[in-house]
Amino acid sequence: MAVTRREWLRSAGVLAGASVIAGKGTARAAGPAASPPAAGSAELFDVPDFERQAQVRLSPMAWEYISEGAADELTLRWNRESYDRLRLRPRALVDVSQLDTRVTLLGRELPFPILLAPTAYHKLAHPDGELATVRGAGAAGATMVLSTMSTVSLEDVAAAATHPLWFQLYVQPDREFTRRLVGRAESAGYQALVVTVDAPVLGARYRELRAHFNLPPGVERANLKGLVTATGAQRATEQSIFSATLDPKVTWKEIDWLRSLTRLPVLLKGVMNPDDAARAVDAGVSGLIVSNHGARNLDTVPATIDALPEVVAKVGGRLPVLVDGGIRRGTSVLKALGLGATAVLIGRPYLYGLAAEGAAGVTRVVNILRREFEMAMALTGRTSIAAIDSSVIWR
Ligand code: FNR
Ligand code: LAC
Repeated sequence: MAVTRREWLRSAGVLAGASVIAGKGTARAAGPAASPPAAGSAELFDVPDFERQAQVRLSPMAWEYISEGAADELTLRWNRESYDRLRLRPRALVDVSQLDTRVTLLGRELPFPILLAPTAYHKLAHPDGELATVRGAGAAGATMVLSTMSTVSLEDVAAAATHPLWFQLYVQPDREFTRRLVGRAESAGYQALVVTVDAPVLGARYRELRAHFNLPPGVERANLKGLVTATGAQRATEQSIFSATLDPKVTWKEIDWLRSLTRLPVLLKGVMNPDDAARAVDAGVSGLIVSNHGARNLDTVPATIDALPEVVAKVGGRLPVLVDGGIRRGTSVLKALGLGATAVLIGRPYLYGLAAEGAAGVTRVVNILRREFEMAMALTGRTSIAAIDSSVIWR
């Protein structure tokens, strides 16, 4: 395929693009420099392959938005590096012919401990948006957490679901709207409410600024229809740090309020500090997600895998503790469980799958991580989730 320099620059994210929605099945440019695979013809085997292919397929703006971290992206790097630094301690001569990856979470059994983290704006990655994601998650047997900022309504996503869904809530400045939103999620059959607590404001995101992040015409915050904030970027400006779609006033009081509104289990996402974890137990929530928002908000906060052990210790088994951030390998899933997580969530990896191959790509990314996790269990001699404890980490 002949490729002009301009096309290549656009595909590599060097030029801000006019076309912001990835074309379904349309090959973007292949380029010379880092020899990215030609779209459509590339054979993709692991998560890094999907990441490279996503960069080829996505508009430069969407690539910058999805892959970016805040400020100097130090935490973005640490989220990965901290997993790399942990060594595994294998056990030999164990019969690993039968592996049991089932895990019980909030009273339900999951076939394996990997969920899809809530991420905004899937139509930036694929024209079918969250409908493709939920189909892909369903085919893989994974639970998806739908973002408040989805570009398909929570009702339409639920109608296409074949597996349990959870709903992620950004408390909106309009509390009456928030109350109705929670009611809608409950009526549509979502099984848990994940309240994100690490985003009173967004972090300093210069890559999306440079790429002129905006929601293209026709791409909306489908759950916020009826609010002026349903469309447009709604970002902070040089004059103000606040985003119109986030409420900087949310405190523990709102957690009590949300618990009084819904019979759904309430989980807090974005807890890093063990003191907050202790308070969350007292507040009666049903679970915690140790997360730094994929390093997109507060830069220089530690890697989530480094924050996890203290949170787990503080919670002392009273709640399930999940973790996300930087998981690109099955060995990382094993390490997180070894350090006390009940399950993990992945964010960018399935967005890369969505961008590269639509619903099928989401399924493949989950299957790849699941398979790598099973290999890691077999190769460390751990045949069940219960058998994965801190002795799997080399000290
Ligand atoms: C996110 N994340 C996020 N979290 C949330 O609670 N609500 C949201 O709408 C979003 N949106 C969002 C968009 C994009 C493009 C990304 C990459 C992330 C954070 C997400 O749930 C999760 O914490 C991280 O993505 C986990 O890190 P990894 O797996 O991407 O490294
Ligand atoms: C983000 C928001 C929307 O991380 O959560 O981009």
